[in-house]
Amino acid sequence: MTVLTPHRAEHLFHGAFADEYHFLKVICPLSLFMSERVGDSVVAFRSEQPELRSLSALEIGTGTGVTTQLILSALGEGSLISIDNAPAMMVQAETHLEEHLVSGRLRLITDDALSALYALPSESMDLVLSAYTLHNFLEGYRREVLKEILRVLKPKGWFVNGDRYGVDDPAEHLKTIQDEVRGYFRVFREINRPDLLEQWVVHLLSDESDEHRMRLTTSIDVMQSLGFGLTTVSDRHEVNTLLISRKPCL
Ligand SMILES: C[S@@+](CC[C@H](N)C(=O)[O-])C[C@H]1O[C@@H](n2cnc3c(N)ncnc32)[C@H](O)[C@@H]1O
Repeated sequence: MTVLTPHRAEHLFHGAFADEYHFLKVICPLSLFMSERVGDSVVAFRSEQPELRSLSALEIGTGTGVTTQLILSALGEGSLISIDNAPAMMVQAETHLEEHLVSGRLRLITDDALSALYALPSESMDLVLSAYTLHNFLEGYRREVLKEILRVLKPKGWFVNGDRYGVDDPAEHLKTIQDEVRGYFRVFREINRPDLLEQWVVHLLSDESDEHRMRLTTSIDVMQSLGFGLTTVSDRHEVNTLLISRKPCL
């Protein structure tokens, strides 16, 4: 019997799946919209707290740097640390984000999200942001990551997550996922890439497994039990959702 350790990090992004991850925007055009909304949330945070001059921000799951780029554009003079545990993704991010690495505004850390969070001081970040990363985590690991996000946020700081939050109604959720799989077949058949089709379907099966699936209401309940404050949900299209959660002032 396999025993899943609750804080185990997985390595799901390698091989052709990681090297050709740009197919995400073809099979899920909403992903770019969600990345833009994560960037917009930085602008919203700055207008809510204009007294803060140079923001400290942390991104979990750099990927190829699509969302990172948008966060940096919105941050003004602030600085960003971005973490990812997949060398194949970080190589692409380093190329896309070279100008920000050179300017010193961005620091990339190739590490497991939880280890990197454990190493950060409490109340050191104005913003923790993420796109399409937490849904990949095992449930126990995700809970520990959320706990750490809350610890590293400053009071009044925001956790912003543009991600796949499962539809609460199981029948509706199943239909959404079935439609998504049909879309994968359409895209990858057209370009004759059965190898990528296989990898995207296998990846989706991991996202949808009991140990990983991130449902919206359950996620908000978990965050509230950990001590997050006001949480707003917006831009919900199929499973794609923007969630913003505030750290209360004690
Ligand atoms: C779906 S991609 C999203 C990338 C990016 N945020 C974007 O908007 O395109 C998820 C990323 O999270 C990273 N990741 C998954 N599990 C991780 C973990 N435990 N620690 C750090 N990074 C992780 C993967 O390597 C991958 O690059």
